[in-house]
Amino acid sequence: MRVCVTGAGGFAASWLVKLLLSKGFIVHGTVRDPSDEKYAHLKELENATQNLILFKADLLDYVSIASSVAGCEGVFHVASPVPYSKVPNPEVLLEPAVTGTKNVLKACLEAKAKRVVVVSSGSAIFMKPDWPKGEIMDESCWSDELYCRTTENWYHLSKTVAEREALDFASKNALDVVTVCPTLIVGPMLQSTINASSLVLINLLKGIRETVENTLRNIVDVRDLAEALLLVYENKEASGRYIASSHVINTRDLIELLKSLFPNYSYPKNIVEVEEGKVFSSKKLQSLGWKFRPLEETLKDAVEYYQCAHLLE
Ligand SMILES: NC(=O)c1ccc[n+]([C@@H]2O[C@H](COP(=O)([O-])OP(=O)(O)OC[C@H]3O[C@@H](n4cnc5c(N)ncnc54)[C@H](OP(=O)(O)O)[C@@H]3O)[C@@H](O)[C@H]2O)c1
Repeated sequence: MRVCVTGAGGFAASWLVKLLLSKGFIVHGTVRDPSDEKYAHLKELENATQNLILFKADLLDYVSIASSVAGCEGVFHVASPVPYSKVPNPEVLLEPAVTGTKNVLKACLEAKAKRVVVVSSGSAIFMKPDWPKGEIMDESCWSDELYCRTTENWYHLSKTVAEREALDFASKNALDVVTVCPTLIVGPMLQSTINASSLVLINLLKGIRETVENTLRNIVDVRDLAEALLLVYENKEASGRYIASSHVINTRDLIELLKSLFPNYSYPKNIVEVEEGKVFSSKKLQSLGWKFRPLEETLKDAVEYYQCAHLLE
C-alpha cells in the first residue's frame, strides 16, 4: 500500500513514517528541501532504503503537492507550521495551514485517495471562553474563531480554520477525510532539530523560566499519536474528528513527577496559580481500540533521549 505523509521530517510525522515503514507501507514523504541534513534520520529508518521516497514539496505550491500525492491510496496531512512563540504576522501560519490543507485535499481528490487523515490540534477545540468550568471537552467542541482573532492566538486560529475547511471540503467533494486533534505532543525525538512541543519539556527541565503558571497540560505521547493516525486510517468505521490526548496533569504535578524521575535538573523555582484549564476526552478514539502508554514512560523516554542528544546541557 502506498501512502503520502506531508512534512515527513517533523517530530510527529517522523514517528508516523517509521511506523508505516515498519508495517510494510511504501511512503511518499514530503520535505521542503530533500538535500537538508535535518532529514538524514528518515533515510536511516528500517525499510527506508526500499520503501521511502522523499518528494520536494511546499504546501503553498500545488504542483509539488500533487506530484507527491499522485499514486497514493492514503494521505496523512501532518505538515503545518508550529511556532515556538507568538508570531506577529498571522499569515505566516494561516496561509500554509489553510491554503496548504486545501492544496493537499485538492491533490487527494485528483489522485482518488481512499482516505485522508488530517492532523489538526487541541487548539482547534479548547479556545472557548464560555466553556463551563471543569466540563470535559469532546469532539463536538470547536475553538471560537473570533476569540482566537481578538486574543491574537494565530496558531489556534490557523488549526481551527484549516480543520473546519478540511471537513467542509470533504463533505462537499465526497472525499473521505478523518481529522485527529492531538494535545501537547511529547516523547523521544527522531529528528535532530528541536520542535516547539519538545522545547516545552526541555525548558522545564532547564528551568529556563524561574516562574511558571500552574496550567493544566493535556499530553499525548508522539508514538501513541502515530498509532492513532494509523488506527483511524485503517479502521473503516472511523469518521469525523478524534481527540488524541492521554494524560492530564497540572504544571506543578508534572514538575514533581519529573523531579522524582530526574532529580538533578534546575526546574522553575516558582509556580503561580492560574484559572483551571480545559480537560479533553479521547473516548471516541479509545472506542476504536486506541491504547496509550503511561505518562512516566513518555517522560522517561523523552528525557533520556534529550540527555543522549546533549540537549539539557
Ligand atoms: N507538537 C504539538 O504539541 C502539536 C499539538 C497538536 C497538534 N500538532 C500538529 O501536529 C502536526 C505536526 O507537528 P509537530 O509538532 O510534529 O511539528 P514540527 O516538528 O514543527 O513539524 C511541522 C512540519 O510542517 C512542515 N511545514 C511547515 N510549513 C510548511 C510548508 N509551507 N510546506 C511544507 N511543509 C511545511 C515542516 O517542514 P520543514 O521540515 O520543512 O520545516 C515540518 O516538517 C502539525 O500539524 C501541528 O499543528 C502539534
